[in-house]
Amino acid sequence: MRLGRYLLPFSAVLYGCANAQLINPNNITFGNPFNFWTKTQDGWDLTRGNHTNTITLPLPHPAGNVTIQPATSAMVIIDMQNFFLHPDLGGDPLGRALVPTTIDMIHAFRTNGMKVLWTNWGLTDFDLTTMPPALFRGFSSDGTSATSFGSDMGTIQGNISVGRKLMRGSWNAQPFGDLLDEQVGGVANGTDFYFNKNRLSGMWGTSTPMQTFLQDGMITTLFFGGVNVDQCVWGTLLDSYYKGYDVILVDDISATTSPMAATGMVDFNAALNGWRANSTDIIPALSVS
Ligand SMILES: *[C@@H]1O[C@H](CO)[C@@H](O)[C@H](O)[C@H]1NC(C)=O
Ligand SMILES: *[C@@H]1O[C@H](CO)[C@@H](O)[C@H](O)[C@H]1NC(C)=O
Ligand SMILES: *[C@@H]1O[C@H](CO)[C@@H](O)[C@H](O)[C@H]1NC(C)=O
Ligand SMILES: *[C@@H]1O[C@H](CO)[C@@H](O)[C@H](O)[C@H]1NC(C)=O
Ligand SMILES: *[C@@H]1O[C@H](CO)[C@@H](O)[C@H](O)[C@H]1NC(C)=O
Ligand SMILES: *[C@@H]1O[C@H](CO)[C@@H](O)[C@H](O)[C@H]1NC(C)=O
Repeated sequence: MRLGRYLLPFSAVLYGCANAQLINPNNITFGNPFNFWTKTQDGWDLTRGNHTNTITLPLPHPAGNVTIQPATSAMVIIDMQNFFLHPDLGGDPLGRALVPTTIDMIHAFRTNGMKVLWTNWGLTDFDLTTMPPALFRGFSSDGTSATSFGSDMGTIQGNISVGRKLMRGSWNAQPFGDLLDEQVGGVANGTDFYFNKNRLSGMWGTSTPMQTFLQDGMITTLFFGGVNVDQCVWGTLLDSYYKGYDVILVDDISATTSPMAATGMVDFNAALNGWRANSTDIIPALSVS
């Protein structure tokens, strides 16, 4: 009751604002007064009405221009970890090849005050007690549970202790190569934020650390990259879409070890759920230092 009394005048004010765009024949509003896009003659406005310091990205056909509010936009980097990428662990060369472009995107986002979010596997022993059998099987190296999550992965290069598989704080769960310094330095500088996850998706279930952060910061617009594009990237993108975030898949900072058909499915559906772009469509529109 009490909530209703406070909410009503507030929503009425916002509704009036969205309504102004509804009655403009050139603008079409999708959504509701709290969460809306405006389709303009030139493309899409995702700013939800905050037109301070907007950035317009000329995304490839059929997207057109997509205008974002940098303060409520973020880049999400998924699973660029030693476990998935390091050559000594049989990691993916296609994933390693993404590192320089990913770093260019990180720098361009930071320069424009847009947050860089990292979400990686980072399991605890508690997570292992609630992990479903299907996931234990999926992450086994030899078909037994003895080599799945939490198992000791031994030593490489004589002196690198790989640690327990995908456990929080282990070497194998760290970002790969130059991404480690980017993540640690970015988090220390306050431009980047790190979130552990315990499923393929970093946005599953009723909430995750990343979702709580997005809600608290009123962040609405997410750019996705990482590995594998059809598994953890797709899972995180799809859950974000289900939960009402704008999703933009960045092709040239995403890769997979799966057959090409898997990427084909993701590309087709990501374009329906939101948009697809390459870093080459985005970086030139950002101010780059
Ligand atoms: C149409 O939408 C654009 C982008 O949001 C906005 O700048 C413009 O003011 C809108 N026009 C009207 C008359 O609402
Ligand atoms: C993007 O916006 C610019 C400037 O308004 C315009 O010239 C261009 O035609 C737009 N592109 C598309 C695809 O609408
Ligand atoms: C609009 O965005 C700017 C940053 O681009 C921010 O400083 C300002 O607080 C935002 N306004 C509202 C009403 O959220
Ligand atoms: C690990 O071994 C390499 C040579 O294989 C050596 O260069 C490096 O300093 C060693 N690191 C540590 C921490 O002992
Ligand atoms: C952190 O900030 C310092 C000082 O601005 C800068 O020199 C350094 O490059 C930043 N590091 C990262 C990883 O952003
Ligand atoms: C990104 O670039 C690749 C390689 O040129 C291309 O195949 C793909 O269609 C591009 N993606 C978009 C959304 O334009």
